[in-house]
Amino acid sequence: MDRHVLITGASRGIGYALARECRSRGARVTMLAANPDRIAKAAAEVGGTPLAIDLSDLDRVAAVLPEAEAANGPVDVLVNNAARMGMGPLARLDAQTLRDVLTTNLLAPAELSRAAAAAMVPRRRGAIVAVSSLAGEMALRNIPAYGSSKAGLSYLTRALQRELAGTGVCAQLVLLGGVDTDLLRENQADPVAGPASVRLAKVVPTPSADVVGRRIADHIVSGRRRTLVLPAAATGAVALRHSLTALSDLLLKGLPRSL
Ligand SMILES: NC(=O)c1ccc[n+]([C@@H]2O[C@H](COP(=O)([O-])OP(=O)(O)OC[C@H]3O[C@@H](n4cnc5c(N)ncnc54)[C@H](OP(=O)(O)O)[C@@H]3O)[C@@H](O)[C@H]2O)c1
Repeated sequence: MDRHVLITGASRGIGYALARECRSRGARVTMLAANPDRIAKAAAEVGGTPLAIDLSDLDRVAAVLPEAEAANGPVDVLVNNAARMGMGPLARLDAQTLRDVLTTNLLAPAELSRAAAAAMVPRRRGAIVAVSSLAGEMALRNIPAYGSSKAGLSYLTRALQRELAGTGVCAQLVLLGGVDTDLLRENQADPVAGPASVRLAKVVPTPSADVVGRRIADHIVSGRRRTLVLPAAATGAVALRHSLTALSDLLLKGLPRSL
């Protein structure tokens, strides 16, 4: 894997596991997170380059690609993985949490994807990967900000896949169910979302971050546009939900591309 991979949210959980996996396959890895101490420690463990930037501060997001490129050269793979949850019903969510979740999980990845696509298309190579959630495919209670940010991120990636077709740049979508990380534990501590998540975990096994990190690394290497859904059992339901996208693909067939 002779590539520069930039992973957001790489101080722990899935991003950390993915960074370690990419590094073990020979990639140069830039690891971004908000907490400077955590990302410095994680990067030292993995052999990556730490980048401490809080993605909830949109003014700082413009610095991400230039700083990563100054350290490790052009970014070949951008993985938009960082996210926060912000538990609670919308009416009880404070305005700052709502803004921070939507900025970290959707606006920052949109801006990073925009900048990465603009740089990658002239080089005719690269991948833009979104780590999204099945929570964005269904309406749940007590995660309104998180769920809508993930629905938006998945939409953005599906749109990008179509805009980038034929350019040599690939947009890849990863849709995850429960994975054993701090984020899931935060969800499971909520009095409403928690029991539902625990019920689901009894039916569908919860993989470790290491297992999921390996699956995402395999998906990146494959270069496949097909959405990676984990658990795989949810693939059919996701495809059914997107039957209208298949219709829009038919409507757009043969029309000129703008990239
Ligand atoms: N775990 C699950 O069950 C599950 C299910 C579906 C989808 N996912 C998706 O998988 C991805 C990874 O989740 P995870 O479970 O590994 O979460 P996690 O263990 O909570 O880790 C979150 C990572 O994101 C970083 N982060 C959070 N807010 C940030 C900000 N404002 N700026 C920069 N970095 C920030 C954290 O960095 P700090 O150390 O600086 O806080 C941390 O590295 C997320 O996109 C999540 O939506 C997870």
